[in-house]
Amino acid sequence: MIKHFLELADYSSAELRELLDMAAAQKKLYKEGGRDLCLSGKTMVMLFEKPSSRTRVSFEVGMTQLGGSAVYLRPEDIGGLGQREPISDLTRVLNGYVDLIVARTFEHSSVIELAHYAKMPVINALTEKCHPCQAMADMLTIREHFGRLEGLKLAFIGDGNNMAYSLAAACMRLGLAFSIAAPAAYALPKESVEFLKKLGDGSNLITTQSPAEAAQDADIVYTDTWTSMGQEEEKHQRMANFKGYQINDELLKVAAAGAKVMHCLPAYRGLEITNEVMEGPQSIVFDQAENRLHFQRFLMKYLLEEGTEEGMRHEA
Ligand code: CP
Ligand code: NVA
Repeated sequence: MIKHFLELADYSSAELRELLDMAAAQKKLYKEGGRDLCLSGKTMVMLFEKPSSRTRVSFEVGMTQLGGSAVYLRPEDIGGLGQREPISDLTRVLNGYVDLIVARTFEHSSVIELAHYAKMPVINALTEKCHPCQAMADMLTIREHFGRLEGLKLAFIGDGNNMAYSLAAACMRLGLAFSIAAPAAYALPKESVEFLKKLGDGSNLITTQSPAEAAQDADIVYTDTWTSMGQEEEKHQRMANFKGYQINDELLKVAAAGAKVMHCLPAYRGLEITNEVMEGPQSIVFDQAENRLHFQRFLMKYLLEEGTEEGMRHEA
């Protein structure tokens, strides 16, 4: 069976815990100067419909550290995924060239279609629906800071977007309580909330419009941009509608003592987070950014060692 990494719900709690354990072990190896050239000679293509700094660099560096190489296709190189040619044609061409696809797309259905035709693993590097690599790097970071995941509470302040969805999924699977404060028009859709609740074994998932209610006693207070990629035309409206959905010193007063502040970045200081909080002692935003590299480097190794059908690429 080819293993893909499209969304966290596709993995059980035990599998996600195992991925975190193995990623942590590989991080330790690297930090101690060890190297693992297990993907020597392997190649990956990165299909990106949207801009990226962290995701692109961490995947490329990760693949290089494992001994493989990466080809990056910018939005203008692809000419619009599914527009210059059907995704099914492009994927079947790539089947003959590379060992791994990392894709950042607008529609989530695009990564599903890539995975359908691919004879190699496909990794979701962000879609409109979710950002599973970021959420797993975040879980690794939380575990490093708190020494555990189970029983913690993560409060998300802001848009019920791809980040909120993936963090909620991660929390449900890994035993954290999740609360989200969003304006009514930007809440996580009801169907998503029902689906996400079922991923857990009774972990709390609370939705509210009140940032203070969501952040009450939270161990982690997390936010993301009010305007995601692809929503630029709504920016002014969103800036008005999200006013007050900000992580600032006042909000942190209701969180647990020693609460940590997280942001997937890029951050817009003065909007969803103040400069003081972003640069303050509770912020762990750069630790989570670094862990993108450590989690994804391990993920590539895992998917290529565990999740490919040897020889399939050359059968068609
Ligand atoms: N957090 C994140 O995915 O950042 P980039 O958009 O820069 O890749
Ligand atoms: N919600 C943001 C996340 C960026 C990493 C976006 O989709 O643009």
